[in-house]
Amino acid sequence: MRIGVLTAGGDCPGLNAVIRSVVHRAVVGHGDEVIGFEDGFKGLLDGRHRKLDLDAVSGILARGGTILGSSRLERARLREACESSKELAREYGIDVLIPIGGEGTLTAARMLSDAGLPVVGVPKTIDNDISSTDRTFGFDTAVGVATEAIDRLKTTAESHQRVMVVEVMGRHAGWIALESGMAGGAHGICLPERPFDPADLVSMVEERFARGKKFAVICVAEGAHPAEGSMDYAKGAIDQFGHERFAGIGTKLAAELEKRLGKEARPVILGHVQRGGTPTAYDRVLATRFGWHAVEAAHRGEFGKMTALKGTDIRMVPIADAVTELKRVPASRMDEAESVF
Ligand code: F6P
Repeated sequence: MRIGVLTAGGDCPGLNAVIRSVVHRAVVGHGDEVIGFEDGFKGLLDGRHRKLDLDAVSGILARGGTILGSSRLERARLREACESSKELAREYGIDVLIPIGGEGTLTAARMLSDAGLPVVGVPKTIDNDISSTDRTFGFDTAVGVATEAIDRLKTTAESHQRVMVVEVMGRHAGWIALESGMAGGAHGICLPERPFDPADLVSMVEERFARGKKFAVICVAEGAHPAEGSMDYAKGAIDQFGHERFAGIGTKLAAELEKRLGKEARPVILGHVQRGGTPTAYDRVLATRFGWHAVEAAHRGEFGKMTALKGTDIRMVPIADAVTELKRVPASRMDEAESVF
């Protein structure tokens, strides 16, 4: 079998572990040939690809990023890809394509699959917001980075008696904010799933100071937004990829709290540091298992499906199910965090 693999969308710690695992299982386990397309779907469309053998994936397990490069594809070019998908597969002689990506990539994978290209998907995102899988790799690493940041911010906040507002990634779902906020013991957690009222955050900080605690850390997801009318805030514009670009909620919230509290507040935007660097052991293992199962599914001819973690097992689920709705933080998880929203 000849397998094509690509990584698309925003990168994520663990991508290289999947690529390595696909190559090992395919080449050693089945005697397959694997080719990697460069820069996601762009490489598929432009014919930029290279052979991936054991040497090509040697030493990449612990490396962040992706050795294949990644990119986002505009919707117009995606349609182009779907129209020519069968021809492309024939041209490159690939029997199956394994795209590794988030919601956008999996939507593309589904379109390609519907257009007749044999596809087995592997979900990835640090945001952990893909339905049908309990976890995505990259999430554990991102939560670890954000938790360490909160730990560090607490000591400097205390020294200066400040309020720190740490903004983490999560456009549509607040999983990173929820879990890093819980793990770091943030005093307030703001998620896209539940609009917050800055007045509640002000009360929380004032109560803390009244109890003699002279600092506070608030963890806010980039997609969090204030409740209607509670604070001046304009939501972001939609970019060319259909993503809403938020206008820096962390910075705006810090300024608002400083004004209302009359205390110093500082925003800290963690940004892409959450996506960079070496994956945790958990993410390496999950990514490796996903790669192994993707190859097995390809050999069983289970196309149009993707790998998913269900409990402790890896199962194959229809890609279509995974892209219909994002997995958002349920109210029960928010309540457990006992935070101020
Ligand atoms: O989808 C993952 C993600 O990390 C989001 O949380 C974030 O909004 C986005 O990617 C950032 O994307 P870009 O790298 O295109 O700025």
